[in-house]
Amino acid sequence: MDTIRIEGGHPLSGEVETSGAKNASLPLMAAALLADSPSRLDRIPHLRDIVTMGEMLERLGARVTRTDGGLDIAPAGFADAEAPYDLVCKMRASIYVLGPLLARFGHARVSLPGGCAIGNRPIDLHLRGFEALGARITIEHGYVDAQAPAGGLTGGECVLEGPSGSSVGATCNVLMAATLARGKTVLHGAAREPEVGDLIGYLNAMGARISGAGTGTLEIEGVQRLGGCVYRVIPDRIEAGTFLVAAAMMRSEVTVRNCRPDHMQASLDKLKEMGARLEISGDSIRVVADGPLRPIAARTLPYPGFATDMQAQFLAALSLAAGESTITETIYPDRFIHVAELNRMGADIRVTNATATVRGVAKLTGATVMASDLRASAALILAGLAAEGQTEILRVYHLDRGYERLEEKFRALGAVMERVPSSKTEPSGP
Ligand code: EPZ
Repeated sequence: MDTIRIEGGHPLSGEVETSGAKNASLPLMAAALLADSPSRLDRIPHLRDIVTMGEMLERLGARVTRTDGGLDIAPAGFADAEAPYDLVCKMRASIYVLGPLLARFGHARVSLPGGCAIGNRPIDLHLRGFEALGARITIEHGYVDAQAPAGGLTGGECVLEGPSGSSVGATCNVLMAATLARGKTVLHGAAREPEVGDLIGYLNAMGARISGAGTGTLEIEGVQRLGGCVYRVIPDRIEAGTFLVAAAMMRSEVTVRNCRPDHMQASLDKLKEMGARLEISGDSIRVVADGPLRPIAARTLPYPGFATDMQAQFLAALSLAAGESTITETIYPDRFIHVAELNRMGADIRVTNATATVRGVAKLTGATVMASDLRASAALILAGLAAEGQTEILRVYHLDRGYERLEEKFRALGAVMERVPSSKTEPSGP
């Protein structure tokens, strides 16, 4: 477990490239199993979660090869329909293999993902969707067993909304299964996140017939086969947003290149409300923040609302705003573990009933803090960049799951940070 050590207070400047989107790459990799020939997926980032998904596909019999630009996935030897606990427990997104396995084999057995640092994350909507396609679901011994009817999955109609609204994972999973089902499937309450749109783009390029991308209703006409193809994943809107928030927090001037501003509207609106100036030109966003940050009120919501994956980073920045801000979590009410760590750095944040109230402070001070999940790690890095003195962030393996070369990118912008072995600083016990 490495540690990241940051010397705070160095302004950022320059340009940074956005990597391919982790949360779009993972379902694309699983979807490659649906085809009867290889796919080349371009711009897939080098990340721990991508490696884990690659291991999962290989365990199922596919061949996964890293290329210069991304990944080649050959589903040829694909022969097993069981996703074991030792891989699923490393990464919840492993559940994405359930839909493709069920569609191709008529049967799948996938370990239930289990607990998660950001709160309760059920998969009932995934299962409801598979049942609508005729599958029989049983849960036993910690595994989901899904069995298609004789003759394979059949098209059906299903509402995929839960108490917090639509589900990205359920939409992607059921969508993948429906591509090879007999007849027409209609998914209501489908997630509209760009990552779902990217999966639809890939599936259609493989020969699927899906309409309604970007809306809450998806219609899928089942086809008999899909063929592999070359496809390029979208840029990571959360990574790009993290750099923009960092620049605003540091009162800096930074250009984030190779991103999709149209996928980031809610974050851009909030940054403007906070007083940052944004100049958008094609696939680049330049942020200039020279005055004091203004407080805001925000609620996390499904896309196109304000993303829960940006909540922690905005909380870090708002801890230095001139006044009182609030962020309410409607997706994961318990996703606030980073608050205690930010407070250890001098922030003034209280959480009541899934709302964080942030009273802006004049400065943060460096401390040793512990990362609890991916976006929490990013928030602590931002706080460390802005803080007075040195910050050490422990358990940064979370960061490696989802940010490609983050230290290198921040260092190129002028940040002073390094990665060190953490054995000397890691505290013992839970
Ligand atoms: C995806 O998770 C992302 N992960 C998450 O990003 C992100 O926070 C989340 O979407 C919300 O945007 C990946 O894409 C790999 P959901 P997912 O199903 O698909 C409830 C990050 O930091 N729900 O859209 O698992 C659920 O509890 C990660 O990169 C059910 O009730 O999220 C939540 O309240 C963390 N039943 C809401 O829906 C279900 O069957 C949205 O979850 C499924 C979900």
